[in-house]
Amino acid sequence: MRVEASARDQMRETSAVSTQADFASEEYALRRDRELDHPLARDQYLFPTDERGESIAYMAGNSLGLQPKSTKAAIDAELDSWATLAVRGHSHGAHPWMVFPALLAQESAAIVGAKPEEIVMMNSLTVNIHLLLASFYQPNDRRRKIIMEDYAFSSDSYAIRSHIAFRGGHPDKDVIRLKPREGEDSLRTEDVIAVLRERGDEIATTLFGAVNYYSGEFMDIPAITAVAHEVGAYAGWDLAHAAGNVPLQIHDWDVDFAAWCSYKYLNAGPGSVAGAFIHEKHHTAGLPRLEGWWSNKPETRFLMNPIVDPIENADAWAPSHPPLLIMAPALSALHVFTEVGMPALRARSLQLTSYMRDLITVLGAAETGAGTRTDTGAGTGATSRVHVITPSDSDRHGAQLSIRVPIEPFALVERMYENHGVLGDARNPDIIRFAPIPMYNTFHDVWRAVTALFAELNG
Ligand SMILES: Cc1ncc(COP(=O)(O)O)c(C=O)c1O
Repeated sequence: MRVEASARDQMRETSAVSTQADFASEEYALRRDRELDHPLARDQYLFPTDERGESIAYMAGNSLGLQPKSTKAAIDAELDSWATLAVRGHSHGAHPWMVFPALLAQESAAIVGAKPEEIVMMNSLTVNIHLLLASFYQPNDRRRKIIMEDYAFSSDSYAIRSHIAFRGGHPDKDVIRLKPREGEDSLRTEDVIAVLRERGDEIATTLFGAVNYYSGEFMDIPAITAVAHEVGAYAGWDLAHAAGNVPLQIHDWDVDFAAWCSYKYLNAGPGSVAGAFIHEKHHTAGLPRLEGWWSNKPETRFLMNPIVDPIENADAWAPSHPPLLIMAPALSALHVFTEVGMPALRARSLQLTSYMRDLITVLGAAETGAGTRTDTGAGTGATSRVHVITPSDSDRHGAQLSIRVPIEPFALVERMYENHGVLGDARNPDIIRFAPIPMYNTFHDVWRAVTALFAELNG
């Protein structure tokens, strides 16, 4: 079985591990942290503690990333600029506010695989989805539909439905919502492609979560984008759970548009500024868009003409001037990614997540008796008491594993926190999510999370 082979590989990687019991031991996790695998930048983050002041095994960085130690100073620097320079802060100081979005775009380029001029950091995620759909959803009599995954994050669904209604369409008829096959938990690429080919001449736009918030599946962006284009649709991606998590090359993959938030894997803080990507081929193509004074070229902006003189890059999609105080923490948070690099980040992420999956398998088998299968595959059928619904192929998942549990998941998450100092999260109706973050989580954090899960299930 694939998973056991992976566990065996991991056992071979560290010294003197001979049995599954040894693999599942706390000592094994500590040894891996000590001897082999170090978090990439753990010392750069602040870790929460519980009410007793004890350390938390933080597994919820897919929801809200930890605070970098640099954050306070980054905000303070802009407060100081405001205090000492006031309005001149727009053009003076260490980071003149006028150029702040460009600095953020520069730091974001390698994270999403785009050119800096294709990125604009602005607003929050759902607002950016709206601004992008204003350009990339252009329904006509024949082609009116938007295609998405049925189990997308609710906000994406609401944004899509409201755009359709806004253009005089029918939200119940004009959205194609794709479900996994019966008994499966994630979409197969071939099924997405089949629907695109079958119904292509009705579809105006595709908008999928690149890594789904619920299942943790990583979609095949280049394959789906290519077929979307083949049938004449625009291809968009929500990168909320993908940016800073999985390797992305959205420019080379010819993605038309994308949006993401920066408070999850990117650690920029709650509500911090979001990203938007518009492929360079669209910059001067005359697409309709919602504009404001910040869409105007800087050199003519203050002429205050009634007709916009648009910037010829992604910045033209930004109607408003940059919200500096929520942007400040993003710059230093993103810089860590530049220092570490996405290849190193991904390599460690795969190590941590496959260790977590294998530990679930080993402890699940121990719990239910030898020979019982804990299925960690992508919807391949029978399960034991817990079932990892995230696909197991390494190119189909990121850091997160979504685990189907046999008891109410929100209470379970609360008990793991109260009794074991483990912080994960839950999603309706029966999923808990753990995401070991390669920047700061350890093997020991993963061990604490998985053993807490089984302790509570058995308790
Ligand atoms: C996939 C996805 N889309 C949209 C959103 C909404 O984000 P925001 O509230 O920043 O608009 C989230 C938030 O977690 C998300 O995970």
